[in-house]
Amino acid sequence: MSTSDIQRLLRKNICELQPYSSARHEFHGEASIYLDANENPHPYPYNRYPDPFQRQLKVCLSEKKRIAVDRIFLGNGSDEVIDLLIRAFCDPQKDSIVTLIPSYGMYEVAAQVNDVDCIKVPLADRFQLNPDALLRAVIPDRTKIAFLCSPNNPTGNLLDRTAVRTVLENFSGIVVIDEAYIDFASAPSMVGFQDEYPHLVVMQTLSKAWGAAGIRLGIAFASPQIVNVLSRIKIPYNISQLTQEYALRLLADTVTMERNLRSILEEREMLRTALSASPYNFNVYPSDANYLLVDVGNAEEYYRRLIAQGIVVRNRSNIALCEGCLRITVGTPEENKTLLHALHNPPVSK
Ligand SMILES: Cc1ncc(COP(=O)(O)O)c(C=O)c1O
Repeated sequence: MSTSDIQRLLRKNICELQPYSSARHEFHGEASIYLDANENPHPYPYNRYPDPFQRQLKVCLSEKKRIAVDRIFLGNGSDEVIDLLIRAFCDPQKDSIVTLIPSYGMYEVAAQVNDVDCIKVPLADRFQLNPDALLRAVIPDRTKIAFLCSPNNPTGNLLDRTAVRTVLENFSGIVVIDEAYIDFASAPSMVGFQDEYPHLVVMQTLSKAWGAAGIRLGIAFASPQIVNVLSRIKIPYNISQLTQEYALRLLADTVTMERNLRSILEEREMLRTALSASPYNFNVYPSDANYLLVDVGNAEEYYRRLIAQGIVVRNRSNIALCEGCLRITVGTPEENKTLLHALHNPPVSK
């Protein structure tokens, strides 16, 4: 797919949009007196608007991920990126997105908010992507974005790389790979594949392995053309000063991140082994993420019993292909011990 093909996929009103130009868009550099943005001149710690381009943070991510700055877009969580992509490429009441079920629910919700159809293709055996089924389901010239989540939420598995490539090579829209959980996975990221596939968007987030869900920072790695489109339609100051500063400090401390990541991976294995064995004997699906999808049989009952003991997990038993399943996030060693105890005591009938 060429850059002109991407241009063709865009909504007409977005192509023609004259973006809002804020005070900080029109002047950057150092000045001694700022009277351009109607800010409060008194020395509150956050009296100034943040950098709308997040330059420093993007340079830091660019070095960390070994990708050019102009291939990075930052959103108020990945959830903002999902919404902006749909707004940029999908005409309401006309276009559609395609995604897999079960998968992360926000793709469909963001489509509904934008009055865009969501085509859902069931995962095949072992929760794998069937690229032919996905390609058959798309409506030519109308299905603009495919959202693929790898590792997939809630099933926990990586999508087969060959199947993903088949979609990339045959789908003539934008392909989004949501890698929110990639740091927990045994396979490398697809960041950097944009040279080969200019219509590929890889999403990551600081909410999971980096432990910063509260600051709301999502990242999209994409061709400069797509980054430019998203930057033109976002609200000017979508990433707060507090978030930018905190993220810079966090990203500098890889040692803590890696130590906590190792603990989560060890605890995932401990939980998987424990829950598969006696006295639980649950069917635990393989996971490349920081949670386990566990078929406990009577999910409703286990869910309520855990709640009664002050432990909340996600009951996924009502969603396609997840009958009887709880999705359990890997906690600290202490939390996981308490969970195992609470699942067993009081014992419930399966
Ligand atoms: C697959 C997936 N993508 C994206 C998100 C949201 O990420 P963020 O916190 O960056 O909005 C989640 C959150 O649970 C998720 O599971």
